[in-house]
Amino acid sequence: MNPLETISPDEEKLSNDLLRILTLMLRKEYPKGKTVLRDAHPKSHGLVKAEFVVPELPTDLKVGLFSKPGTYKAYIRFSNGAKPQADKIGDIRGVGIKIFGVEGEHCLEGEKTTQDFLLINNPVLPAGNPKDYFNLFTSSMSGNPLKYFFSWNPFEWKLGDLLILHDIRSQKVPSPLSLKYYSTTPYAWKEGAVKYALFPTGEYTKQIQDDSSENYLREQMKKELSEKSSSFDFYIQKGDLKVHSIENASAHWDEGRAPFQKLATILIPKQNFDTPDQNTLAENLSFDPWHSLVDHTPIGGINRMRKVVYYGITKYRHEKNGVGIEDPIPWESIE
Ligand code: HEM
Repeated sequence: MNPLETISPDEEKLSNDLLRILTLMLRKEYPKGKTVLRDAHPKSHGLVKAEFVVPELPTDLKVGLFSKPGTYKAYIRFSNGAKPQADKIGDIRGVGIKIFGVEGEHCLEGEKTTQDFLLINNPVLPAGNPKDYFNLFTSSMSGNPLKYFFSWNPFEWKLGDLLILHDIRSQKVPSPLSLKYYSTTPYAWKEGAVKYALFPTGEYTKQIQDDSSENYLREQMKKELSEKSSSFDFYIQKGDLKVHSIENASAHWDEGRAPFQKLATILIPKQNFDTPDQNTLAENLSFDPWHSLVDHTPIGGINRMRKVVYYGITKYRHEKNGVGIEDPIPWESIE
């Protein structure tokens, strides 16, 4: 356990209960013979080939993957958060980044040479700790998400969380390549903690061209990457731990105290990613914040809950789909 963390006693049970509920839901949703999709972020806009470029950095930024300059091959899977639905419906948009050839001590037994980063297009979560996440999830599942926000006691109303959810749902997005993405949860950084962010730097569409097609985000990204390359800058925000919370992913880390510091560049070359092989690979890869160097260990309650849930769900869907979980690293196919 990282000394910055505070683990609540009910957390382990909540995580196992959540995994059990999610697995039951998947079993019901995808009966025998149907390909089991991810429980969260099942709709992919595409898996693209990318390069993660780390420059020579100042000494205080030389940590883990960022210790020395290097260019790494990577995959990025762009997704919607909710169940497959038309892209114009407001939703969380996500990225899963998988960087290959990362040597060093890793957090998990599987995937010993990859570093994953998972981010969404909002800086905070509507439920910032395992208990809130579980309660929001179960009240949404019962068809009444408002139950989470409004209890009989007005002093316990979660109006801040409701606003975050409203912000997420009301965002209209032009293209997956034009969004800012955030880790929302913290990661170890020497004795401190950081959050990650990804800001687009390519020439990207700021206006929604036409959202009438069900899959306009895939189509827009396909069009953009057929014409030109794209890029993002990768940042950290070092938390000021006197004021910034490790255990509450609903709380902002303000830029004043935790300015964004650029660490790396992501280059996405011009390409056609929308091929049957690459789309299958998008389904078969597992992105998990715990596929990580120990130097970048995920911390905080939400990340601890994710350790149980991601592994359990990915194991379930890989077994049901008859795909090996240990060998989803298709180095050759990135060449
Ligand atoms: C306790 C909180 C969370 C739970 C229970 C959860 C659950 C899940 C699950 C079950 C998956 C599918 C895993 C698989 O089958 O491979 C997933 C995928 C994903 N999650 Fe989370 N998640 C949580 C928090 C977050 C946070 C904080 C972020 C980022 C800020 C995030 C971003 C993503 C993304 C981008 C994917 C898709 C990765 C891909 O492309 O495969 N999630 N999540």
